[in-house]
Amino acid sequence: MDLHGLQERALAELQACRDEAALHAWNGRYLGKSGELTLALKRIGELPPAERPAYGQKVNQIKQTLLAAAEQQERAIREAELTRSLTAEALDVTLPGRPVQRGRLHVATQVMRRIIAIFADLGFQVYRSREVEDDLTNFELLNMPPHHPARDMWDTFHTTTPGVLLRTHTSPGQIHVMRELCPEPIRVILPGMCYRYEQITTRSEIMFQQVEGLAIGTDITMTDLKGVIQAFAQRLFGEDRTVRIRSSYFPFTEPSIEVDMDCIVCGGKGCSLCKGTGWLEIMGAGMVHPVVLQHGGYDPTRYSGFAFGMGPQRITMLLYGLKDIRQFWANDLRFLEQF
Ligand code: DAH
Repeated sequence: MDLHGLQERALAELQACRDEAALHAWNGRYLGKSGELTLALKRIGELPPAERPAYGQKVNQIKQTLLAAAEQQERAIREAELTRSLTAEALDVTLPGRPVQRGRLHVATQVMRRIIAIFADLGFQVYRSREVEDDLTNFELLNMPPHHPARDMWDTFHTTTPGVLLRTHTSPGQIHVMRELCPEPIRVILPGMCYRYEQITTRSEIMFQQVEGLAIGTDITMTDLKGVIQAFAQRLFGEDRTVRIRSSYFPFTEPSIEVDMDCIVCGGKGCSLCKGTGWLEIMGAGMVHPVVLQHGGYDPTRYSGFAFGMGPQRITMLLYGLKDIRQFWANDLRFLEQF
């Protein structure tokens, strides 16, 4: 048996193995169950006993040589494979990354936060009230019985449950906060989304935010209301702003007023923004109607209060000179990225 020839052949074939599959096949051919070297060892029984030890030793030596060589070849194949994949799939980690687009707060949120901060300075807390209301709280408890003509001002979306609707204004929150805090004095603002079923124009949307204000105590007067509104207008629009009040009507206030601020563009001379009047309407307000106080649990002979309601989208439009209220919820990045 040419053991030396066998070893030489096995080593030569091993050198030619270029991948793990070839290595595996080589292994089977020489070292496997019926591999050449295994068979060579089995043949030991055919030899005269005197030759057996030397033969066995030789075969074992070859086996060790082949195993060591195979191990080395396997390592070489692995390394070659790694180098290949590193060059083929090269990743330049020094390249600058792709910029992540920066998010920002919606302009409505920005202005809402400014409004909340101003009222916080004036001692008003934020009270969150529900957007899905019942007819009772949205209308009746605010002094609008079922067939009251004032309801025409607030057409809304009704749910399939009778008497459950999307609130048309934040005013029903007044009832909730009064009932929760009575008989404590109250100084809160109630910001939130409102809904109305109406024609969408550049000045009105079916969905919009309001900020309601409510102060209740034992000696609150219209002077306090005017002072608060004046302070608010000056902090948001500038120290030289003045406000005026006009008589108006809301079912839940008596007396009711409409608040105007001198025009931020012309300062009162008259321009296209204020339509020549010199004044911009900023909110409705008034002294809380005795019936409403009562519905909230407060005795109107002891307590009085003021309330106001404004549309922060309108205010934002004034602040930034925006022309179309529909842009607020249109989700157009060209609009949103400007703020
Ligand atoms: N709720 C009124 C509206 O949506 C706004 C309003 C006016 C609220 C006068 C008030 C108020 O609290 O006193 O048109």
